[in-house]
Amino acid sequence: MFERKSPSSPQRTNCLVTDVGVAELNKQHLRLASYAVELNQIVEEISARRPTQTDWRQIDALFSRICLFVAAHFRSEENLMEEHGYPAYAEHKDLHRQFSSELADVQSKINNRNLKFGSKLSNLLWNFLYVHINEVDIKYKEFLEEKGVI
Ligand SMILES: [Fe+2]
Ligand SMILES: [Fe+2]
Repeated sequence: MFERKSPSSPQRTNCLVTDVGVAELNKQHLRLASYAVELNQIVEEISARRPTQTDWRQIDALFSRICLFVAAHFRSEENLMEEHGYPAYAEHKDLHRQFSSELADVQSKINNRNLKFGSKLSNLLWNFLYVHINEVDIKYKEFLEEKGVI
């Protein structure tokens, strides 16, 4: 776990990701945080100049890894919630779907080599980390604790 002072400054490398009570999911959340840092570094670097072919290839590779990782993470959480009959499963799954569609939007901007992808990206992952993990994911922890699963 690491600390982050202000959610409004996506460049910060320190961040606070709440413990959701499941070691594997905590690990995945931290990896998402490190992807967010890596992505912001690239966006920051290229925002001051015109991206080269190498920059775009780097962005393509990183963004594909992020999308695959996010999809796998969502599957892990959804399987766990479904397995234990989590009552807010459908709403939670829906929020995952919304986030995935935002990622798909960004992906199409990247595919079109649209420089505007940076402005959307700079906060997308951080917002997800803060709002989703700390306010939505945390609720399955309470449920799993009450059920005696964790
Ligand atoms: Fe999560
Ligand atoms: Fe989630």
